[in-house]
Amino acid sequence: MKVALVTGASRGLGAVIARELGSAGWAVAVNYANDTDGANAVVERIRGTGGTAIPAKFSVIDSEAIKRGLDAIRTALGPVDLIVNNATGPQPQMPLMEQSWLTYVDQLEFFVKAPLELLQAVLPDWRARRSGRVINIGSEVVELGNPNFGNYVSAKGAMLAMSRSWARELAPEGITVNVVSPGWIPVERHASADKAAMQAYIGEVPAGRMGSPEDIAHTVVFLASEQASFITGQKVAVNGGRTLL
Ligand SMILES: NC(=O)c1ccc[n+]([C@@H]2O[C@H](COP(=O)([O-])OP(=O)(O)OC[C@H]3O[C@@H](n4cnc5c(N)ncnc54)[C@H](OP(=O)(O)O)[C@@H]3O)[C@@H](O)[C@H]2O)c1
Repeated sequence: MKVALVTGASRGLGAVIARELGSAGWAVAVNYANDTDGANAVVERIRGTGGTAIPAKFSVIDSEAIKRGLDAIRTALGPVDLIVNNATGPQPQMPLMEQSWLTYVDQLEFFVKAPLELLQAVLPDWRARRSGRVINIGSEVVELGNPNFGNYVSAKGAMLAMSRSWARELAPEGITVNVVSPGWIPVERHASADKAAMQAYIGEVPAGRMGSPEDIAHTVVFLASEQASFITGQKVAVNGGRTLL
């Protein structure tokens, strides 16, 4: 059974990505940093449908914790074959003059540093096996350039550019790297989102609806599959046509 690590999978998009990978036959390490009940619920749901999953508690922005976390996954499930870099911390928005370098570093830790250190930890093994998959969860904000959000937008932009470089470097070794780029997908943290803002957003979506976490998860499952082995260095926007190419 192939092993997937989904970072930040105790709720939100990560929880549904983990679930769908479990349904597709992956053994899933459900990573999280704080919400043990949430992660356990995701694990139980996967096990309840006959799948294999374990909770994997470690902070992706802690270099030492990453090593310990991957060791624990290897012991419980075997070596990781797929990393889905999905975890995110708080995403504060503020006018430019209120932003500091630290507000940028905070985002880069999640979207550049964590994916880099996770990949470096597994790469010797992937190289030896000539296989491995990275799927980075990006955002349409890179194309849209949302204002008051330079910290997050630039880190997601860096994640996209980094994925392209990694894809070219690793393609000869049978390893693929792709980005799934969601539009606004309501998850638990959007429960109190302004309804008017959501309607305004839908007005800009050619498909005329909000996306669902399943829309994202199904794209991840496809890119992780054998059928997608010739796809690398790509960004798949899953946003009902809001951004084009
Ligand atoms: N939802 C959207 O509309 C949307 C749109 C575009 C892009 N995205 C991207 O999609 C991804 C998921 O977003 P989401 O909306 O599902 O976020 P979310 O609901 O806030 O979930 C974030 C997850 O990350 C975990 N996490 C936080 N800090 C962590 C750490 N240090 N180490 C490991 N895990 C950590 C959280 O669990 P714990 O609290 O248990 O640690 C939680 O499971 C993000 O990369 C986001 O930028 C989302």
